[in-house]
Amino acid sequence: MCSRVRRYQLILEDNAKNAISALATTMSLVVDSLLSIGEFGWTVAQLLTFTLIDSVKTFIPMGVLPRKSIKGDICLITGAGSGLGRLMALEFAKHGCDIVLWDVNEAGNAETKRMLKSSGARVWSYTVDLADRKDIAAKAVMVKEEVGGIEILSGAELTGDVPSLTMTKIIRIQVNNAGIVTGKKLFDCTDDEMEKTMAVNCNACLYTMRHFGQSMVERNHGHIITIASIAGKLGVAGLVDYCASKHGAVGFHEAMSEELRLIKADGVKTSLICPYYTNTGMFDGVVTNAPYLLPILDSSYVIDCIMEAVLTNKQEYFIPKFLYLTTSTFGFYSNRVSALMSDYFKIGETMNNFKGRKAIEEKK
Ligand SMILES: NC(=O)c1ccc[n+]([C@@H]2O[C@H](COP(=O)([O-])OP(=O)(O)OC[C@H]3O[C@@H](n4cnc5c(N)ncnc54)[C@H](O)[C@@H]3O)[C@@H](O)[C@H]2O)c1
Repeated sequence: MCSRVRRYQLILEDNAKNAISALATTMSLVVDSLLSIGEFGWTVAQLLTFTLIDSVKTFIPMGVLPRKSIKGDICLITGAGSGLGRLMALEFAKHGCDIVLWDVNEAGNAETKRMLKSSGARVWSYTVDLADRKDIAAKAVMVKEEVGGIEILSGAELTGDVPSLTMTKIIRIQVNNAGIVTGKKLFDCTDDEMEKTMAVNCNACLYTMRHFGQSMVERNHGHIITIASIAGKLGVAGLVDYCASKHGAVGFHEAMSEELRLIKADGVKTSLICPYYTNTGMFDGVVTNAPYLLPILDSSYVIDCIMEAVLTNKQEYFIPKFLYLTTSTFGFYSNRVSALMSDYFKIGETMNNFKGRKAIEEKK
């Protein structure tokens, strides 16, 4: 009799224990679910808020957002011997920067240096072929010696061809601007032409960053500006090699920005600039078939936009702003919708009368 009661007692205790453990498991599942729902909700709320704030910021007129000071920074500009590179050199000098000019065109560089004379900026110019990574490496060492003064990196974390040197006075602003365009259809391009386009417009961004970016990361201070193109976001007939190289430059900017974010180098800013055709001479002869929405841009307006992006630490800047509406909704389009828009704006015909900078040089 007594043992039967004891057995019932044990069964009851077991049942109670099981019930408590089941309740605890259920509670923990509920809490976990609530936490992940909360995390999901919080992420969505942040996503919507940031999208709203950033969209509004994108369309705020130039000069309204607070601007940072770049006074005293050393700014290295590739392709500084003409066009946007030269105009940027003048503009960065106006903001109090010292300037390092890089270009394959020695005479163009010398002219930019002459134009900078009255600015009061210290200027160094180097003849560099950005299609040749060995030349980039050699000139980077010269810059480090002549502009920066040298400091040996302890622990030499650098790898590959990058010398283990860093600078006491570092390049704080690096503008990847040099660019070339063949303006030829894919089957008319030679292999050498295509390789050179990739080397100057894309690969040079990687090599130059590896030579100067490390010092910026160590000090958590700097700004990498990549002048790509809207051709880095969409494909244009007659510009296959150029588009491939500019998509590469965009990829470089996006992935490099992400690496900097993950190593918490939040003091090293990045800006990607994607302009439409601009009247520097590089795309001489191109036409626009939608002059109100997609006009041929004036280089001085493009420079104002670049400075706005840099001084407000904007990560991506499309010029004109109409391009935000097309590129940001790309994922929703089917190919036939893109084709329809391309046909409507006659994008495929813009390169038909391309002459380019070579034609201008030959005329001279
Ligand atoms: N002009 C436009 O319509 C337009 C539109 C969108 C993007 N962009 C981009 O803006 C940047 C500047 O273009 P721009 O319009 O001022 O053209 P630009 O021809 O006036 O300037 C390009 C500069 O790069 C230099 N360069 C070319 N090959 C080089 C090399 N191997 N090594 C070193 N320097 C070299 C040239 O000597 C020149 O000074 C380019 O990257 C270009 O692709 C231009």
